[in-house]
This record gives sequence, structure tokens and C-alpha cells, in this order.
Amino acid sequence: MATIIGGLAASHVPSIGGAIARGETQTPYWKPFFDAFNPVHAWLADKKPDVAIVIYNDHGLNFFLDKMPTFAIGVADHYDNADEGWGIPVLPSFEGDPELSWHLAESLVGDGFDMTMCQELLVDHAFTLPIKLMYPNAGARWPLRTIPITINSVQHPLPTAARCWKLGQAIGRAVISYPKDARVVILGTGGLSHQLDGERAGFINKDFDLLCMKDIVDDPEALTHFTNRQIVELAGSQGVELMTWIAMRAALGGPARAVSRHYHAPLSNTGGAVLLIEPASEPGRMAAE
Ligand code: DHB
Ligand code: FE
Repeated sequence: MATIIGGLAASHVPSIGGAIARGETQTPYWKPFFDAFNPVHAWLADKKPDVAIVIYNDHGLNFFLDKMPTFAIGVADHYDNADEGWGIPVLPSFEGDPELSWHLAESLVGDGFDMTMCQELLVDHAFTLPIKLMYPNAGARWPLRTIPITINSVQHPLPTAARCWKLGQAIGRAVISYPKDARVVILGTGGLSHQLDGERAGFINKDFDLLCMKDIVDDPEALTHFTNRQIVELAGSQGVELMTWIAMRAALGGPARAVSRHYHAPLSNTGGAVLLIEPASEPGRMAAE
């Protein structure tokens, strides 16, 4: 049976791609962020996940304001990256897992989440950079299969935190009902606080970010009580990317523990965060071994 072995939440600022391309990962500015992935690399080498379900938000590479699904899932056998204009080198294609994707789609729709199913999907920096950070030395082929799940964070009305929590719970149920063996890691990419436009451009709220870093591990349902308006006020207009963290954490379910955590601001315009968590009792791990 498929098991969820852990969850990784990480900021996805596009300039990470430029820093990698220019060989700047060990400069004073970038080193703390890139070094935060050292424990993630050790964990991945030990746990060897087969599949990553990547919960992220598309920023206009695949979906645009004319047609914006609230929730979408990739069901393709591969996902291409493309030039999205940030100066990030285009990364190699990502292998999909159509069988698990269709299982998730069936289960989620049956569970009341009417996902848009994508047999073609271009993946942007929010999907590609966290995987590149997980596997910096991967060549043309990534070491695990991938399933993209998008949450609309761009075109209002946005789904609520409470709804994204329930989506994550449904993803968790779907994974553990898959009869085939697969070690699954769930990613939630984006955040933490940032606002890229308008009068508050550059807004970062370290106190709120640190509250999120703590609550997402120990008391994640507390975060679902914020309205979208409150999240925008507290975390900036793009701080709503927190929804991807909330869905990731809900998919893990139960008590969890942090394996490693890192926060520093600013990272580009953002409260930069990396958080690796495991189910506290590691039930998934025991079931898989
Ligand atoms: C930045 C952060 C994002 O999440 C994003 O999608 C684009 C830019 C930034 O901090 O610059
Ligand atoms: Fe973003």
C-alpha cells in the first residue's frame, strides 16, 4: 500500500533558480537558505521516496486569469517546465505517475473535490525549484515520480484555508487507499509572507511567519480559522500561498514532528522558510517496511 512518509514545505522564490545558475548558492546572501536543505538531502537519502505530490500554485505559466481552476491535478506521464520570464534556466522534464494520479482524481472527486484533471500541464518555478533544491545533483532524470496539484492563489475568490485543509485530508485518504506500494512525500510550496505589488509591496511579517512555522507542525487546524482577508492582511497578498502548506500538513494527518526547520527574511521579497516534517509515530514508514 502507498504510505506518506513525510512533508516538505518550502518557499519557491524564482531567484533561487538564478542563484543556482550563477553558482551563488554559497554566497552570504543565499547560503543560509541553501544550507537548510542539507538535512533534507540526508532525509531523502535515507527514506528514498518514490513519488512527490507537489501542492503548489501556478503563477501564469499554465493557467491564466481567463481560466483559473480552484484545484487542479496532473494526470500526465510527464510535466514540462518552460521559460516563464524570471531568467531561470528551464529544468528537465518531470516524470509523472498517471496510475496514482487517476486514483487520486477518482478518490478526490468521489470525496467532493471536483478537481480539474490535466493531461498536459506546464509546471512553473513553484513546482520545479523545490524539487531542484531537494535533488541539486540530479541530471536529466529526476530520482522520483511527481504529481502536481495546484491551488488557485491568484484569481479571487480563492479557496479558504479551511477548504484547503479538507482538500489535504482528502489527498491523505486517497494516498493510503492506493493498493500498490509507493513511498510518498507531500510538498507544499510557497510563502511565507510576501507582497509583490501595490502599496504594501515588500511587506513581510516575521512574527506571523514564525507562528505559521510552529502551528503547521503542532496545531495546524489553528491556521484554518483565518479568513482569506486576515491572511492577506497578516501575510501580504501573496502570503496566501500558505494554503499549500495547510493542504500538505492535512495530507500527513495526525501528530507530526519537525525533522528540520529554517526561517530567514528577506529571501528575495519573501519570508524564506524550509520545514521538513514526519508523522510523529511514523505509521506510514512502519507500514511500508
Ligand atoms: C517572489 C516570491 C514568490 O513566491 C513568487 O512566486 C515570485 C517572487 C519573491 O519573493 O520575489
Ligand atoms: Fe509564488
